[in-house]
Amino acid sequence: MNIQQVDYDGLIPNNVALGDDVRVKRALEKWHPGYIDWWNDMGPEGFQESLVYLRTAVSVDPKGWAKFDYVRMPEYRWGVLLAPQLEGRKIPFGMHKGEGAWHEVPGEYRAMLRRLVVIQGDTEPASVEQQRYLGKTAPSLYDMRNLFQVNVEEGRHLWAMVYLLQKYFGTDGREEAEALLQRRSGDPDTPRMLGAFNEKTPDWLSFFMFTYFTDRDGKMQLEALAQSGFDPLSRTCRFMLTEEAHHMFVGETGVTRIIQRTCEAMKEAGISDPNEIEKVRKLGVIDLPTIQKKANMHFSLTLDLFGNEISTNAANAFHAGLKGRYREDRLKDDHQLESGTYPVLRLIDGKIQNEDSPALSALNMRLRDDYVVDCNVGVGRWNKVIAEHGIAFEIKLPHVAFHRHIGEFSRTNADVDGNILFPDEWTNRRIDFLPSAADKDYIESLMQPQMEPGKFASWIAPPKVGIDNKPGEFEYVKIA
Ligand SMILES: [Fe+2]
Ligand SMILES: [Fe+2]
Repeated sequence: MNIQQVDYDGLIPNNVALGDDVRVKRALEKWHPGYIDWWNDMGPEGFQESLVYLRTAVSVDPKGWAKFDYVRMPEYRWGVLLAPQLEGRKIPFGMHKGEGAWHEVPGEYRAMLRRLVVIQGDTEPASVEQQRYLGKTAPSLYDMRNLFQVNVEEGRHLWAMVYLLQKYFGTDGREEAEALLQRRSGDPDTPRMLGAFNEKTPDWLSFFMFTYFTDRDGKMQLEALAQSGFDPLSRTCRFMLTEEAHHMFVGETGVTRIIQRTCEAMKEAGISDPNEIEKVRKLGVIDLPTIQKKANMHFSLTLDLFGNEISTNAANAFHAGLKGRYREDRLKDDHQLESGTYPVLRLIDGKIQNEDSPALSALNMRLRDDYVVDCNVGVGRWNKVIAEHGIAFEIKLPHVAFHRHIGEFSRTNADVDGNILFPDEWTNRRIDFLPSAADKDYIESLMQPQMEPGKFASWIAPPKVGIDNKPGEFEYVKIA
């Protein structure tokens, strides 16, 4: 079978010749009803019967991999799709660098590899759970469709990880695949594995910030795993990244459109001071300082996903050839990091300062640094919109020490500029940095659905172009 072509005949669309792999095919078919139950219970609430204009992956050819059509979400064709195998691919880093890539799990790394797959897999259904009520308050059918697109693709990413578990990890893989359907975001007894995936996504500004910041952590992790010497993981992640790009597009353009609407409304009303919050709010838009606070929150929660700055697990995974650095293939060094150092931001004698650490131990720090650089690109574009309206305000990413719960800075309180605060100072000033109850109430008051084709809620501008080049009036969701 041509890898570019996807077999759509069976229950599970795939390009991994599942038809010839009876054991794995059966295992996935057995897992399927539990997945559909999970989707019906925890997927978008209230819209399972609606027809949604969705893209479905039909190929892994970068030039034309998706088709668009109306689909009821429970009937979406979630498939197992791997990017094409690269002829003669070698392990690109670590102690096995230069050896042929693995097509089976190397026995000595089985547990480590399984854990990497499970942790990635756990984030996928978690975000669907976090976003399940948002359809009801969608600011337009266009946005609703984008939400559901993200949701079905996170569902497919779960399939991607479950395929690896079922195919390569035997009985324990099967158990892990079951457990992925059992955990629930925010559940006190059976939470998802990582903190940011147990937080609420209560409103659409949160959703856009989440897809901008937290899906971007996903991108970084997938980029690092796409370098893996374990070839099936590499190929899976490479294709997931194609879909992930849209999620960050949704986040970046969502925030852009909110900022744009705010600036337009301020200009029309002759308000030039962004800190006239009450006046701005009277216009039915979200004031820029509140957008900043939301960014502070989602950015800081997402930084925690990178784990401890100094990490033996990260060092081991790299050394073993399982998880590389961001775009390892474009880096120019020995790709082994046995010697060499990397500057790590630490809290030393109450001061935040760089300390050179062994490069191998500092891989989480490095990936986080790459992430911050990537985050700043879109923030620059947000600021361009503000500047174009002649408003003196800049969105800034907070200091990495701000509002942290994991790693070096979890044991201190820093403000958004990285100044260390006394505990009572932090308590008093917290609402200067993070959304207050009143901010949350205000945003919630704006979350009135707008479900007429071509119309948008008061607080968000229409997109520049439609999905699949559809015109403005297009009915992206036919609500049933
Ligand atoms: Fe994902
Ligand atoms: Fe995503």
